[in-house]
Amino acid sequence: MSVPDVDFFAIAVIIFSVFKSTLCIMTKENKQMVKKYIFGSVFNTEAVVEDIAVSSDSLPYLGVHGNDLLYKMSDDDIVYGLGENVRGINKRGWRYISRCTDQTGHSESTQALYAAHNFLIVDGAERFGVFVDTPAEVTFDVGFTALDTLRIEGGAENCAVYIIEGESLSDIVKQLRKLTGSSYIPPKWAFGHQQSRWGYSCSDDVRAVVRKHAELGCPLDSVYLDIDYMDEYKDFTIDRRRFPDFEALTAEMKEKGVRLVPIIDAAVKVQEGYDVYEEGVEKGYFCTGEDGKPFEVAVWPGRSCLPDVLNPEAREWFGKKYECLISRGIDGFWNDMNEPSIFYTDKTLNAAYDYANKVQESNIDINSYFILCEMFTGNLRSAEQYKDFYHNTPEGRISHDKVHNIYGYNMTRAAMEAFGKIAPDRRILLFSRSSYIGMHRFGGIWTGDNTAHWDHLAMNLKMMPSINMCGFLYSGADLGGFGGNVSEDLLTRWLQFGIFTPLMRNHTAWNCREKEVYQFPSAKYLSEIIKLRYRLIPYLYSEYVKAAKGNDMLFKPLSFVFENDSDAARIEDQLMWGESVMIAPVLEQNARGRYVYLPEDMLMVRWLSADEYKLEPMSAGRHYIEIPLREMVFFIRKGHLLPLCASAEHVRDLDASKLTVIGYGEGELSYELIDDDGESISGIGSIVRKIVCTTDANGIVEESIAD
Ligand code: GLC
Repeated sequence: MSVPDVDFFAIAVIIFSVFKSTLCIMTKENKQMVKKYIFGSVFNTEAVVEDIAVSSDSLPYLGVHGNDLLYKMSDDDIVYGLGENVRGINKRGWRYISRCTDQTGHSESTQALYAAHNFLIVDGAERFGVFVDTPAEVTFDVGFTALDTLRIEGGAENCAVYIIEGESLSDIVKQLRKLTGSSYIPPKWAFGHQQSRWGYSCSDDVRAVVRKHAELGCPLDSVYLDIDYMDEYKDFTIDRRRFPDFEALTAEMKEKGVRLVPIIDAAVKVQEGYDVYEEGVEKGYFCTGEDGKPFEVAVWPGRSCLPDVLNPEAREWFGKKYECLISRGIDGFWNDMNEPSIFYTDKTLNAAYDYANKVQESNIDINSYFILCEMFTGNLRSAEQYKDFYHNTPEGRISHDKVHNIYGYNMTRAAMEAFGKIAPDRRILLFSRSSYIGMHRFGGIWTGDNTAHWDHLAMNLKMMPSINMCGFLYSGADLGGFGGNVSEDLLTRWLQFGIFTPLMRNHTAWNCREKEVYQFPSAKYLSEIIKLRYRLIPYLYSEYVKAAKGNDMLFKPLSFVFENDSDAARIEDQLMWGESVMIAPVLEQNARGRYVYLPEDMLMVRWLSADEYKLEPMSAGRHYIEIPLREMVFFIRKGHLLPLCASAEHVRDLDASKLTVIGYGEGELSYELIDDDGESISGIGSIVRKIVCTTDANGIVEESIAD
């Protein structure tokens, strides 16, 4: 028998490649995977929008020790995530408590801020993401108690735990975001410069702010109304003595291109004759105490009740209340004090008085002195009070402490769900102080009461990618700091960074230095920074919409883009901003420059004003770059383009049909610019424009193009 003439080698190659591609599909599928585990009885936070079956496999990566989850970290592991929190992009070395807390005056030793963003990624010897979905408190000890141990305290107690594997860091983030739903997209005007101060106390204050910006030629798109606009700090009321012409003021400002954005607080004042209070009591829409009666907490207006936003009916009722301001011409809100913040309850106040009475006649020594102080500070606001009131949820009556972290989320959801009915196709600006993953579908966040400290500028930068990971794309900090007195140089450097954050709001407290840009001798230069922001808006908006639709981040740590670059992985003071730009702002006082790490060749753009810039190609590596106070730089990635429009006084006046395009690379480069009408929901991202430019002999693009 003769052996047929067969090419065994070719067959072997075919078999091997079929096997290999099957293996590839398997590994790819295996890698792009979310697994769900349940511990105990789980309250449905509705953070997750996908239906995922509970895994029958054992929990990978993490060991279960009692109620905790444990992971042994190798020396080189980096831990990303945890959203709004203090400290670095790499979260190692601290204990972060997810317990939404009103934290004015926070610092790097604060453990709990306003949000509960229970998602982290471990990247190193192994790579995986963990989302701990629970409305109750969880603590992430990321190498604080023991350097090499990640302990998620409470991570195995009445939680759904999602383990996410992926092909890259970005891929893990994208899977979390697919799991939890698409990020909120605000109206385009909300990308403009916004001015706020607790203390604009009458219509003429607002008019003056707008006039002074216009006189300076400084762009402005909105002015905020803090609690001063309300009648006795009552939600959905207007103090007519100070804002007699509220409707006319709103219309007049809108005509001028400026929107007014009022604050809404979580708690509703207890007052006979106040309709919101009376209705809430009558319908049983407030949180109740042990005795079933509306539970009273004290906030700005004194005694108040908390709308039970975990009860769907109450949520709908509270959301509808926003209509009274929308019908008066308002198209944006900020939801505040919704951790919820409680100044005191009867119990804590009486305990403080009792203690004071008890020691009144005695010699107040060291111990009683400390107790006395604590009774009137920390203890008055103690988290213990969260055990004293209840919600009527679809899952039954539940004490607040068990669902604490989803209160602000549901207040914001109340508003956005109502907006969907009040103005179905209109985008209304909405952001919140407190949040939980899942809330990113309904609104953005600001990062609360920061301080005019240089390290809070650095913290602002470090927080942005972590917040983005958790879905909060529309976000930003109070530029220049909410508390404290900002120095002119700090405000300058902060604005130089703030022009990149989607929410660009200068906000401060009533007792701090006035810090509208026109208050400073360098007002002209400060307004140049803001003008540059407006030039960047077509790109910012385009990248924002792409990130929202693609479940991606706008701000990324360098390592998310340059995955195999171990130097990039340790950079904590530079960020990637969309696909084309890397930012490296100056974060230190009196610095005249800084070291910048370039993971690849890039084009440095040095801005002397909004319209004057210099281009300088730079090679990969470390460089010391001079950056005087009144200059700023950023970098364009090789192979990428940055479109810029001319600045304008308001977002509505920006003309994206005429662009200056800057880029760097070789040959033909392209950028897809996404745009739309900026107002409708149905039109989001409907204009897609491909920009193609060719580099010159130096690899540079600098072109003016028109539609
Ligand atoms: C809270 C807010 C702050 C606001 C103040 C008064 O502290 O975080 O932004 O200005 O309340 O409403």
